[in-house]
Amino acid sequence: MIDNKMLDALNRQVNEEMKSAYLYLAMAADFQDQNRPGFASWMKVQASEEMKHAMKIYGFIEERGGKVVLQAIDAPQDNWASPLKAFEAAYAHEQFITDCIHKLVKLAREIGDLPTEVFLHWFVDEQVEEEATADEVIQKIKQVQDSGNGLYMLDRELGKRED
Ligand code: FEO
Repeated sequence: MIDNKMLDALNRQVNEEMKSAYLYLAMAADFQDQNRPGFASWMKVQASEEMKHAMKIYGFIEERGGKVVLQAIDAPQDNWASPLKAFEAAYAHEQFITDCIHKLVKLAREIGDLPTEVFLHWFVDEQVEEEATADEVIQKIKQVQDSGNGLYMLDRELGKRED
């Protein structure tokens, strides 16, 4: 049976991952509204990744004999001034999620919950990738920033993302 403090913290992380999905879906909707279907599609794929993260933790809580308790999700921001601003916000958000994951690992260590600590290693690695992916898009946007044609080409490139 999982420790109550760890259980609460994991349930909060389910909420953070679902909130991440909500944020990226809001970005997708804004990109679609700005006629940038490739950026929108990239964000939809990202949102679906976040739901998978939430469900991975959800499943782990069940496996450990805990109860999943869902929390409310506030409405996310619904518009961003530019693709660069949206991706900078996504990158900052991923840094926040990395911090959440690291805190969970520290808590698991503190209470000697080895299964949770090992389970969270996947998320530690995943966050390295999540930050790198967001930063990669930021660098690409910066390279083409003032070129309408460059942004159009980047939109087409990002639209190819499948997972
Ligand atoms: Fe689930 Fe993007 O962190």
